[in-house]
Amino acid sequence: MASPLRFDGRVVLVTGAGGGLGRAYALAFAERGALVVVNDLGGDFKGVGRGSSAADKVVEEIRRKGGKAVANYDSVEAGEKLVKTALDTFGRIDIVVNNAGILRDRSFSRISDEDWDIIHRVHLRGSFQVTRAAWDHMKKQNFGRILMTSSASGIYGNFGQANYGAAKLGILGLCNTLAIEGRKNNIHCNTIAPSAGSRMTETVMPEDLVEALKPEYVAPLVLWLCHESCEENGGLFEVGAGWIGKLRWERTLGAIVRKRNQPMTPEAVRDNWEKICDFSNASKPKTIQESTGGIIEVLHKVDSEGISPNHTSHAAPAAAAGFAGAIGHKLPSFSSSYTELESIMYALGVGASVKNPKDLKFVYEGSADFSCLPTFGVIVAQKSMMNGGLAEIPGLSINFAKVLHGEQYLELYKPLPRSGELKSEAVVADILDKGSGVVIVMDVYSYSGKELICYNQFSVFVVGSGGFGGKRTSEKLKAAVVVPNRPPDAVLRDTTSLNQAALYRLSGDWNPLHIDPSFASIAGFEKPILHGLCTFGFSARHVLQKFADNDVSRFKAIKVRFAKPVYPGQTLQTEMWKEGNRVHFQTKVQETGDIVISNAYVDLVPVSGVSAQTPKGGELQSALIFGEIARRLKNVGREVVKKVNAVFEWHITKGGSVAAKWTIDLKSGSGEVYQGPAKGSADTTIIISDEDFMEVVMGKLDPQKAFFSGRLKARGNIMLSQKLQMILKDYAKL
Ligand code: NAI
Repeated sequence: MASPLRFDGRVVLVTGAGGGLGRAYALAFAERGALVVVNDLGGDFKGVGRGSSAADKVVEEIRRKGGKAVANYDSVEAGEKLVKTALDTFGRIDIVVNNAGILRDRSFSRISDEDWDIIHRVHLRGSFQVTRAAWDHMKKQNFGRILMTSSASGIYGNFGQANYGAAKLGILGLCNTLAIEGRKNNIHCNTIAPSAGSRMTETVMPEDLVEALKPEYVAPLVLWLCHESCEENGGLFEVGAGWIGKLRWERTLGAIVRKRNQPMTPEAVRDNWEKICDFSNASKPKTIQESTGGIIEVLHKVDSEGISPNHTSHAAPAAAAGFAGAIGHKLPSFSSSYTELESIMYALGVGASVKNPKDLKFVYEGSADFSCLPTFGVIVAQKSMMNGGLAEIPGLSINFAKVLHGEQYLELYKPLPRSGELKSEAVVADILDKGSGVVIVMDVYSYSGKELICYNQFSVFVVGSGGFGGKRTSEKLKAAVVVPNRPPDAVLRDTTSLNQAALYRLSGDWNPLHIDPSFASIAGFEKPILHGLCTFGFSARHVLQKFADNDVSRFKAIKVRFAKPVYPGQTLQTEMWKEGNRVHFQTKVQETGDIVISNAYVDLVPVSGVSAQTPKGGELQSALIFGEIARRLKNVGREVVKKVNAVFEWHITKGGSVAAKWTIDLKSGSGEVYQGPAKGSADTTIIISDEDFMEVVMGKLDPQKAFFSGRLKARGNIMLSQKLQMILKDYAKL
C-alpha cells in the first residue's frame, strides 16, 4: 500500500464529537497523529440541556490510546470560542469538521418558530460561526480543510423534516461558495450526507440497522477529504455502510419558449413542457459560469433568429442550408493604415524587449534595419474580419461569447512594410461540422496597392452550433502538422508580464475577455486570459530569433493550433525542431507543462534564396503575361467568363520552388486577374515553371505534352484546363 494518510501536527476541530459520527471522526484523526479539539455541548438529541461528560469521555478515550486531544463544551453558535480552544491549546487550526446537530422533527403545519430557529441556529448558523472563526487563520497559513455535514433530508426532502432539510441544504449552499472563495488559499470545503446508526437515527431506524451502519464506515471519507493531499473541493458525497458516491447537478437541454418581439406566454410553457423536462442529452453544469453562459446564449439566440438551441430534426437541414449559403461569402474589403508606432506596440505586445539587443530593430524606429514583425500580418487581417462584418454573414449567426480561435495560418509574400496602408479582403472559405460546434474557415488577403502582401487563414470554432450533418474536413484548410517524436533541437522561454494582455490588446484585439475579470468569469475563466495570437507572436519570434537571426525576409509562413489558454504572468516555452526549411514547434506553459500551441510550424526561406524565393511576381517573365491577360479581359471579359466559368490558380515556379501565385478568375463579372492564391476556391490549380509558362504562351510547348511529361502539373478539375486555350492561344502571335 502507498504511504498511509497521516495528520501529524495538524490541529482538527470536530464539532459535536461527544458521540455518534463526531466521536468516530475524532478518534480516527487522533489515531493518525492529529491534535484534536473534541467539541460537544452535551445536550440531548433535541438540543435540550448541556454537560461536559460527552466531550470528556472522548478526550479520555483518545488520551488512553496515546493520542492528543482537548475538550470544548461550547455551543457551535459561539464559534469563536471553539477555535480559541484550538489556538490556545495547540497554537493553530487546520481542519474544521462541522458535525454537531440536533433534530426537531414535526410535520410542517406543526413546526413552531422555535423548532425552526433552533435547527437553523445549530446547523446552519453554527457551521457559519465556527468556519468564519477559523477562516482567516487558514488563509494566513495558506492551508485549510473544511467539512460540512448535510443530509439526504435536505437533498431529497423527508416527511416531518422541513426545518432540518432546509438548514441542511443551506449548509451545502454555504460550502459551494466557500469552495470558490477558499481555492486560491488552498482552503478546500466539501460536504457529506451520511447514513449511520446513532442516537439521532435510533428513533427512525430498526435496531439492527443502527448497529450495522457504523460511524466508522463514514469516518474514512471524512479523513480523506480533510487530508492535505486531497484536491477535492466543492464536492458533495453520500456515504454509509462502506459505500461512497458523489452527486452533481444535471440540467435538461430545455426549450426556448419565447420568440423575438413576441410576448412569452404560459401556454408556450405548457406546450413545451415535455421538452423542458426531457433529460436526454442533459448537461451537467459545474459552475455558475456554465449555468449563466447558457442563459446568455438564449438571449442571443432569441435576438438573432429565435431558433431553438437543440438541433431538432427540422432545425438541422435549415442550419445546413444557411451554412452552405455562407460559403464563398465575401466580407466588404477593409483598409487600415499603420505607422511605426503600431509596429512597435505590437512587437512589445508579443514580448520583444530591449533586454535582447537583437530585438532593438523591432522596438526602435531609429534602428538601421527597423522591421515590422512578420506576425503583425494577423493584426490587419483580424481588423478586417472584426470590422468587416463577420457578425453579418448571411446564414450564420455567431455568438461571440461562444467563439474560440482554433487555428491560424499566415503566409507572407514579402516582408511587411514598416508603415503603410493594407487593404484586406476576407472570404468564408469553408464551414465544417464538428458535432460539438462548427469551424468557420476564413481566408483573408491583404494588399498594399495591388500587391498581395500576406494571406491569413483563421479557423474559428463556434461552440454548440454543430450537428447539422455538414462535412467534417476541408481540403481548403491549411493542415496542422504533428511535431517530431524526439527531444526538441532548441527551446526558448519568455515570461509574460502581468500586463501582457493589457499591452497586446492595444494592437487592436479589444475582446474584454483579456482584461475584464467579470467578463472572463462569465466566459468560464478564473481571470482574464492572454490572447492566443499573443502567444502565437511570442512563439514566432522565438523561431525567428533561433533559426533566422531575426531576419524578417526569411519568414515565409506559420501554422498553429491553439490548445489551451495562457494566463498573463506565465512563462511561455517554445520547443523547436528544425527539419529542412521547416521549423516545427509547440509552446508550453512552463509552470504547468500544458501544451498551449500544438502541431505548429514556421516555414523559412532558405538563406541562399531570400531574394529569389521572396515571390516578386514582377521579376518573373510570366508577370508580364498575366498583366496583359488582365488588360485584355477588360474588353472581352464578360464573353470569356460565359464560356469558361472557372477559376484558375497558377503556381509559377523558379529554381524548383513556387515564386509567385496568380489567379485568373473567369467565373463572375468580366473576370479578374490578380497576384496571389484564389480568394474563394480555385477550380483548377496549375503548377508550371516561369520558363515553361513562357514556352506555352509562345506556342513553343504544347500544354498537353507538358502535362504528360510532368512539366505542367494540374490539380482539381483538369478538364477545365482545356478551356485555357481560349485565353492563352493568342499569345503565340506576341
Ligand atoms: P448524534 O446526535 O449522535 O451527534 C450529534 C452531536 O452533536 C451530539 O453529541 C450533540 O451533543 C452534539 N451537539 C448538538 N448540538 C450541539 C451544539 N449546539 N454545539 C455543540 N454540539 C452539539 O448524531 P449523529 O448521527 O452522529 O449526527 C452527526 C451529524 O450528522 C449531524 O449534523 C446530523 O444532522 C448529521 N446526519 C446524520 C445522519 C445519520 O444517519 N446519523 C444522517 C444525516 C445527517
